[in-house]
Parts: sequence; C-alpha cells; structure tokens
Amino acid sequence: MENNIVFSGIQPTGEMHIGNYFGAVANYVRLQNVGQYQTIYCVVDLHAMTTPYDPSALRRNSEQMFIDLLACGLDTDRSIVFVQSMVPEHTELAWIFSCVCSYGDLTRQTQFKEKSEQLEGKQDAFISAGLFTYPVLQAADILLYRAANVPVGQDQKQHLELSRTIANRFNNQFGEYFPEPQMLATETPKLLALNDPTKKMSKSLGPKSYVGLFDDEQTVRSKVRAAVTDTGDPDTPISDGVRNLLSILRACGHHDQAEAFEREYAQGNPRRYAPLKDAVADALVALTHALRMRRAEIAADPQRVRRLIREGAEKARAIAQQTMRDVRRLTGVMAGSDL
Ligand code: TRP
Repeated sequence: MENNIVFSGIQPTGEMHIGNYFGAVANYVRLQNVGQYQTIYCVVDLHAMTTPYDPSALRRNSEQMFIDLLACGLDTDRSIVFVQSMVPEHTELAWIFSCVCSYGDLTRQTQFKEKSEQLEGKQDAFISAGLFTYPVLQAADILLYRAANVPVGQDQKQHLELSRTIANRFNNQFGEYFPEPQMLATETPKLLALNDPTKKMSKSLGPKSYVGLFDDEQTVRSKVRAAVTDTGDPDTPISDGVRNLLSILRACGHHDQAEAFEREYAQGNPRRYAPLKDAVADALVALTHALRMRRAEIAADPQRVRRLIREGAEKARAIAQQTMRDVRRLTGVMAGSDL
C-alpha cells in the first residue's frame, strides 16, 4: 500500500440494486469503518454522459445516488462524498492525462469495444469520443486525490491498469508525483440476474433482473419468487440460478441457512426451492426495509442533503486544487499565480 487514500466512483444509474450494494457499496462502507483509510467516494455523473442520456434524469439520479450512498451507511464526517461535476479539476486533469495516454492504449480497452458494439446495433447509433476517453477521466478521478487504493470489481481491472500506465508516463515525463493506484480487491459476491442467471445482475436486463435496494416487501417477494431456478431433479447439477440465491442469502449474512440448504440438496432427493426463495425474500425484506427507512429519513430534509452535497464538493475541491497547482507547475501550463 503506497498510501492510505481510497477512492472509488459509482455511476448515477438511478435506483440502486442489491448487486451494486453487495458488489460495491457495502464494501465502501466497510473501508470507511475500519478507520485505517482516508475514504473518498464520488458520484461520477460525467461518466454517465458518455452514452445517450436525459439531462433532467441525470441531475435527479446524481442527487438520488448521493442520498442512497448515505442511506447505505456512508458518513460525511468520515468519508468525502461528492458529485464529480462539482469539482471541475476532474476534467482539467483528464485533458492533461489524455496527452500522456496513447491512442493505442485506449483502442485496446475491451469495455470500449463492447459498449461501442452494443451501441452500433442500435438505430441512430452515436458513439461519443467521451466513451473512448472514459478511462482517462477515470484515471483523473483517482489521481486527483493521489489515491493508491481503488475498490472496484474485476470488470474495472483494465481501466485501473491504464491508470497506472498514465501515472507512470506522467511521472517519467514530468517527475515523480503520482502513486500507482492498485485495485483493492475484496471478496464481494457478483450477483447474477434473477431472470437470466447466465448474466450479471443489471438494470439493463429489466426490472425482473434485480431487487431494488429500496423496493417494498411485495415487490421483493414477487421478484424473488419469479427467479429462474432449475427442475430440482437430483440427477442434474444445481444450476447457477440456485447458486445465485444461495449467494444472496450469504451476502445478507445468513451463512448457516445457506449451508443447511446445501446439505439438504446434497442428499440426493428431489430439490424443492420454495423454502430457499422464502428465506432469500425474508433476508432481503429485512435489509431493504431498514435501508428504505434510512433513506426516507435522509430524503425528508432536502436542505441538509443539498448542504452535504456542497460541503462534500468543497472538501474534494480543496485537495483537487492543490494537485492541479502541482500539475500545472510540472507540466508547464500557465497558471494565474505565475503572473
Ligand atoms: N468506471 C467505473 C464503473 O463503471 C466508475 C468509475 C469512474 C470509477 N471513475 C472511477 C471507479 C474511479 C473507481 C475509481 O464502475
């Protein structure tokens, strides 16, 4: 560990689901609470502009994501929580980084290839240059705070490698300044889509794919009941859908229950999944109920929320401005303070 600064970003996708929660946000909260890190978390609205979007929805979703993060346990006294676009130094550093990042490195990014191919299939396909330079902005997010530790999922591995490449090239060209950010890998379950357990849980697979973090009891129960499983024939192996339900149960902390189901399924009798689904639904109802209450409490004071968003940006900006003063000096761009 080069330093104790943790940085991560999350896109304002609208309603958060249990996949985001267990895969990322629960871990943000854990890292905040171990007390050993300076934790900085960012709602990356500028990254959400790289594919077609609706401006009023973006603004709403950014504020909603900020509230959701607090409801999940991020604490503005212990972490810096802010919205990316309120700290303009992100885009400034991104430009400078785009000049130390090679075109070739960007063309090798698999996420760009995947996303642009998806878009190409659509009518009026528009592939923005922003989608292509997305990882440069991500490197700027991290390095603006000189963070060495980045909690992200495996899907971000290549982006993080590029951040290291950028940091190294900058340091070689302008002098040692940035740390090499490392992936802070923790055991986070990758939850699968309830309606298609061959894929990762994602809003793009429709509302039946996921359980929303703030869903009410009835919605949670009906989504879990509809989850794809298997026929339960003891001669066929346990399917990914069933394993996914067991993972959810474990993610909710019910390890004993999950083990009991596994023991039962190992006995060679026809497997029945209704009791498993009930257990999963009960665990999720308990989680979502508590989070929904927290969220309602926070959202009930919009003045305070806006103040916290402002204060988060001020704290982030104080660090970002210091970095940019150094970067301007190192790179030779003109700064007002030179004149
Ligand atoms: N690309 C990340 C994702 O899609 C989001 C992100 C943007 C990010 N900037 C970041 C993650 C900086 C970690 C650090 O999940």
